[in-house]
Amino acid sequence: MERRIFLQKSCLACGSLLLMNASLSSCSTLPLVQGKTEDQQMFISKMEFAQGNVIIARSNKIDTDILIRKKENSFVALRMMCSHEEQPLTATADQLHCVSHGSSFNMEGEVLREPATKPLKKYRITETENAIIIHLNQFV
Ligand code: FES
Repeated sequence: MERRIFLQKSCLACGSLLLMNASLSSCSTLPLVQGKTEDQQMFISKMEFAQGNVIIARSNKIDTDILIRKKENSFVALRMMCSHEEQPLTATADQLHCVSHGSSFNMEGEVLREPATKPLKKYRITETENAIIIHLNQFV
């Protein structure tokens, strides 16, 4: 009996690790950054863009990741939640995909493939000398 319980728990643990690995590997081409979040604002150091123009920002205080792209002298921050039925998106180097029904979006948040018909939400961004501030309750 104890051996059976041990095996059941081991299988659950292995399954959980596989799921975690699968979800992290879907974004493995882009750097994942923990954003400092307070008062509905997320702070990201501009140094995070030293190696590339696109990062994924995450915080345990919000329900979705944010794809942030540096464009010449400005930034775009996309809510990584499908505009079709609010499912999380995965990102590659140049697109965002929804595994639920197959929609995809470009790095501007525009629909490339339906069934989604609306673009992704873009957060309002302000900047300081060394950081960008994503306003989590304001969209543009
Ligand atoms: S929820 Fe994303 S395509 Fe349906």
